[in-house]
Amino acid sequence: MESAATTVDYGYLRQLVYGLSQNVLDPSRDYLFDTRLTKLLRNHGMTHLEELVQHLKLRKNPVLERSIAEAMTINETSFFRDGRPFELLRADLLPKLIEARRPTRALRFWSAACSTGQEAYSLAMGMLEHFPMLTGWNIRIEGTDICREVVERAQNGLYHRIEMNRGLPARYVVRYFDHVGEDWVVRPEVRRMCNFRQANLCQQPLPFSRADDRFDVIFLRNVMLYFSQETRKTLLAGIHKLLAPDGMLFLGSSEQPANPSIWTPVLAGGTCHFRPLQQS
Ligand SMILES: C[S@@+](CC[C@H](N)C(=O)[O-])C[C@H]1O[C@@H](n2cnc3c(N)ncnc32)[C@H](O)[C@@H]1O
Repeated sequence: MESAATTVDYGYLRQLVYGLSQNVLDPSRDYLFDTRLTKLLRNHGMTHLEELVQHLKLRKNPVLERSIAEAMTINETSFFRDGRPFELLRADLLPKLIEARRPTRALRFWSAACSTGQEAYSLAMGMLEHFPMLTGWNIRIEGTDICREVVERAQNGLYHRIEMNRGLPARYVVRYFDHVGEDWVVRPEVRRMCNFRQANLCQQPLPFSRADDRFDVIFLRNVMLYFSQETRKTLLAGIHKLLAPDGMLFLGSSEQPANPSIWTPVLAGGTCHFRPLQQS
């Protein structure tokens, strides 16, 4: 019997993912549907992708549709990824922000598209390591991601040796993690600074509102490359409203804001970050 895989309507799957997560998948990467949906097919008692597509076309299973969009996300991340933003924060930006926030004794960070949590925990560990004088301050690091599975992993704060070996200085391992069998788990003092939840950045409203305190630092790194230009513009306009007037936005090292007129790029510390231009 000929494999049903040859007749898979990948265009339907691409459109479904786009509709739910705004992630634009190139047809040259259709093979990813085959590799990433294997487990999901098995869990639903199916053997071929085409069976799944036929089932999806009945439009009766929104939960399954969301699981497919989530399974197709690229979750690549690591501790202190692209180190320079963290170093710039430590050496220059945070000392100034801390001075400015003395009256409120509060700092708020958002790791938007946090994947398995390494970005948020890197911020938390950096604060503990370099700014111990902030004991008693209210320091909150929010992490959000569309994919439930990675959010759960971030909440657990449990990492395999391979993940620990990527970008994490040895002294951080010793100070901020406990060894559990083959894995490492973040210590409670790091864990309690971070809060993780599932949220889609392309759905309005964004997971935070302006009525909440605004953010001092937002990391929106290595996620917009999968979005269309229109989606990027809408998202960045929303992010702009959530930043404090003296706050800062970090994008991935090869990313730019889609709406440059509302941002001032600042080149410092071998990296670029963006300040919100105030609009009348
Ligand atoms: C490549 S990872 C980047 C993680 C981290 N920011 C970093 O730079 O290391 C991209 C993350 O974006 C998430 N993502 C993709 N589309 C999203 C959406 N529409 N809303 C929220 N998160 C999304 C994926 O689930 C994935 O975990």
